[in-house]
Amino acid sequence: MCGIVGYVGSNGSCVRVLIDGLKRLEYRGYDSAGIARIVSDEVKLTKESGNLDNLVSNIDFSETSNLGIGHTRWATHGKVDKVNAHPHKVGKFTLVHNGIIENYADIKNNLLLKGYTFKTQTDTEVLCALLDYLYKRNNNVLESISRLPLLVTGSYALCIICDDDKDNLYVAKNNSPLIIGVNEGENYVASDAQAFIDKTKKYVSLEDLDYGKISKDNVRIYHDGKNKTVQLKRFEFGLSDISKDNYEHYMLKEIYEEKEVFVRTTRPYLDNGITSLIDKMPDFSKYKKIRIIACGSATHAGLVGKQMLERYAEIKTEVETASEFRYNKVFLDKDELVIVISQSGETADTLEALKIANNNGNDTLGIINEKGSTIARLSKIVMYTEAGKEIAVATTKAYLAQVTMLSLIALNLSFKKDLLEKAVLKRVLSDAQLLTNYIQELFEKRQEYQKVADGLATHNGVFFIGRLTDYALAMEGSLKLKEISYTHSEAYPAGELKHGTISLIEDKTPVVALITDDVIASKTISNIKEVKARGAHVIVITNKDNLEDDVYDEIIKIPKVCDLFSPVLAVIPLQLIAYEVAKIKGCTIDKPKNLAKSVTVE
Ligand code: G6P
Repeated sequence: MCGIVGYVGSNGSCVRVLIDGLKRLEYRGYDSAGIARIVSDEVKLTKESGNLDNLVSNIDFSETSNLGIGHTRWATHGKVDKVNAHPHKVGKFTLVHNGIIENYADIKNNLLLKGYTFKTQTDTEVLCALLDYLYKRNNNVLESISRLPLLVTGSYALCIICDDDKDNLYVAKNNSPLIIGVNEGENYVASDAQAFIDKTKKYVSLEDLDYGKISKDNVRIYHDGKNKTVQLKRFEFGLSDISKDNYEHYMLKEIYEEKEVFVRTTRPYLDNGITSLIDKMPDFSKYKKIRIIACGSATHAGLVGKQMLERYAEIKTEVETASEFRYNKVFLDKDELVIVISQSGETADTLEALKIANNNGNDTLGIINEKGSTIARLSKIVMYTEAGKEIAVATTKAYLAQVTMLSLIALNLSFKKDLLEKAVLKRVLSDAQLLTNYIQELFEKRQEYQKVADGLATHNGVFFIGRLTDYALAMEGSLKLKEISYTHSEAYPAGELKHGTISLIEDKTPVVALITDDVIASKTISNIKEVKARGAHVIVITNKDNLEDDVYDEIIKIPKVCDLFSPVLAVIPLQLIAYEVAKIKGCTIDKPKNLAKSVTVE
């Protein structure tokens, strides 16, 4: 989603720093970009619609500047064009903004009465005018910014320049991430550390309603009119963690990292068998029920987790989409554990759902990939998935890590509740040792995925079917295909097709069917026969050896492992098939149109 960079230094390199920073934020998804910098004591603005190359071709890199701000915009209010792109300038204020100002229409009407006029349809320009208006009355930038929480509803991360103070950047944050990168004689502002990680690993994170003033030598943060002590922290990751190496796409690189991700996520909990699983995990046995809340693929991971938790730990588990949960009437029992799952740890809807659960007094567990992210900080308990930095917008390795973590929790709880048979435990521990070999086997089937993809790429619609765990996996497979290849697809519970959707099956309609869940395999096979009888072209992904050949037209075999780890393997062909279809169709795989990696608006 929108990206913010800001820079204040002394060696004249501001323009290069801003553009390099914006390039690193491209992965978040955007549709226009712009920068504002101080050149010869004037604020100079350059904005362009489309990708960063359009902006770059209009910039003179020999310009000397020591202070500036930049932005990649993912349109919310107002169409995608150069005028609506950030930064916006009104009067003495120039700013970039992430988030949404919900009461912007009221503020705008008031400002119109005061004589302000507006060039754009954005909520951001209104905020900029509001600051200018406040400043005209008090002549104090910090005081003007400090009034925002009283006047503005919604979310904002802001990086601001005032014409009267060309040595300082000003910042403000509420419900949208913003951090300050701290270095000798220069400081950075960004919505995401990637923007400056090659320059400094030291940073200061802002809390909601914090605001601040940043010069090249000083970071001053305020909250509610009072100066706050600045706490310097350090990032663990570096530039090498976000490079594409020799891979054609980040998505492919990230899929190929899944072996290590599985090992990194399981190792702390399984390195000493069941002892470490029990010792290193919180005690979940006191909860009567689990509620999993998340968005996108993280919800799909939750749906796989539900199967594991209910089967192995016999605990009722409900899964909800955060954007729905937050506006539903809240029915949370006090003995219910709320699990929020998020790769970025910044997804606005998931964050709000977490706040609701916290305020309701529930125990909350965050299964989070980004260390120190907002959701990680606000979860009462946090368990980190160890997927490493994920750059491709469509998640792959982080999803795999989330599913793995939920399986480990189910295993832990099953053991604690004395439900785990010795033979099952033995199998799980031995499969955990062998899983990377099995993942490698799946990587070596690339030609099979390409062959399936050749067929799918010629169709406008694909069905993914399965039951129970396989349905949860089908949802993720379908989402991956939609996200990156723009192929319409639908995931359906195989047993439900006959209640309507089967009318869409005709000769050669592609149906990807999953048969990996032993509990329901024979039923799924019957449902597959129903679609085959109506002409569907069926691609089966299975761990079964003895499938009759009238069940499928194409088959991808995956190794047979215990139920708890089977989804980890089954998702890999789904991810790679989606990847190959997108490649055949020439799509921008890592940055699909209209999508964003970190969805910080609701
Ligand atoms: C975006 C991403 C998805 C992701 C979802 C939830 O839509 O494109 O890949 O699943 O957000 O993100 P989170 O960071 O909370 O896991």
